[in-house]
Amino acid sequence: MDKIVIEGGRPLDGRIEVSAAKNAALPVMAAALLTAEPLDLDNVPDLADISSMRRLLQLLGVDVTHKAGEPGHMVLHCRELLSTTAPYDLVRKMRASVLALGPLLARAGEAWVSLPGGCAIGTRPIDIHLAGLEAMGAKIDLDAGYVHATTPRGLTGAEYLMPQVSVGATENLMMAATLARGTTVLHNCAREPEIVDLADCLNAMGARIAGAGTAHVTIEGVEALQGARHRVIPDRIETGTYVMAAGISRGRIELAGADTRLFGDALGRLRATGLVIDETEDGLVVDGRERRLDGVDVMTQPFPGFATDLQAQFMALMCVADGAAMITETIFENRFMHVPELLRMGARINVQGSSALVRGVEGLKGAPVMATDLRASVSLVLAGLAAEGTTEVNRVYHLDRGYAGLESKLRTCGARLERVA
Ligand code: UD1
Repeated sequence: MDKIVIEGGRPLDGRIEVSAAKNAALPVMAAALLTAEPLDLDNVPDLADISSMRRLLQLLGVDVTHKAGEPGHMVLHCRELLSTTAPYDLVRKMRASVLALGPLLARAGEAWVSLPGGCAIGTRPIDIHLAGLEAMGAKIDLDAGYVHATTPRGLTGAEYLMPQVSVGATENLMMAATLARGTTVLHNCAREPEIVDLADCLNAMGARIAGAGTAHVTIEGVEALQGARHRVIPDRIETGTYVMAAGISRGRIELAGADTRLFGDALGRLRATGLVIDETEDGLVVDGRERRLDGVDVMTQPFPGFATDLQAQFMALMCVADGAAMITETIFENRFMHVPELLRMGARINVQGSSALVRGVEGLKGAPVMATDLRASVSLVLAGLAAEGTTEVNRVYHLDRGYAGLESKLRTCGARLERVA
């Protein structure tokens, strides 16, 4: 298995092009299932998760084409559905496959979607997705590890209060409701920028969605959706990761295409550490050269709160801060898998339940490490950039799921790292 070998201790200095958001691209790709016309997507990132979604959609009957010379341009065309099953092998590899459930049910009146099972960061059930679809008239059965959803009388608009904020459930229900009879009102919705991006795409396809980005989303069902062209938003998690790469290495990075408005509260927390983040004409510039960063407490929350997908990277940053930081994870129950690995690099971290107290140290030391999920893996890359000596990050396939061109982007800024088989 590949690993990334990093020679740390060099301030990064350079310019990085921010890629499009994986978590925005995946749901808009699933939206292609809702129409018989082509959905033209610009700015789709080149990632393993995107390939997994492409494979699933192809299996379901979507023609996927790319225009030569236009990287990131993808046309998805589902003239008719060839299958209504999202199989275990694909769902197991990529949980976002459950985003096929709402669209399949809305278009075909039936869906078989494998239950995803647990994952490295927690149990992650899909009960809210299912309860919302039931509220819209779906009949849900569990059979051999699969959810079998049918709509004996078609989906009907409903009012549904989500018991907990869920990004995926908001997306699935919003997509299903676009083709339901009547009006659906969803309460306690996730407000992430990726939800707004999906609603923009669906509205361009002829859907009638209002309120995306707030806790209350209203969807007036329509007879059919059409094709559309849509550009995927920049990746705020990738952006935040490179902001912290500049911080942890005491360097300076320009991030072209970054959009600070997508950060939510994370922007203020990052600035509170002493990182200087300024907007530029085409993105932002982050400067961490001035001084050692301060310890800052964060608690993960649904958007606009501090993103759980930035928690591991922020913890790596706090490992070398001046002072202590209390990091509390409220979204996933098991998202401190990076802690034992950071400890191996000389970090001082105490975990009590859902909180980790990080006491900053002067410097980290390189070590062989490995992580069990995407964001934890990249937090170890960040730690390796700051550490003295050699860090080997194993299980690189996690990084390929979510960071397009990670090594080349970091290398452009002077990082010394390579992938070895
Ligand atoms: C999405 C993101 C993921 C991010 C997460 C939280 C994508 C492809 N993935 O995941 O990167 O970390 O949002 O910002 O966009 N829950 C239930 N029942 C449900 C659904 C969720 O209990 O039916 C719980 C989850 O276990 C978790 C919390 O709700 O504890 C939030 O999960 P959710 O927002 O649904 O995350 P995802 O959409 O899976």
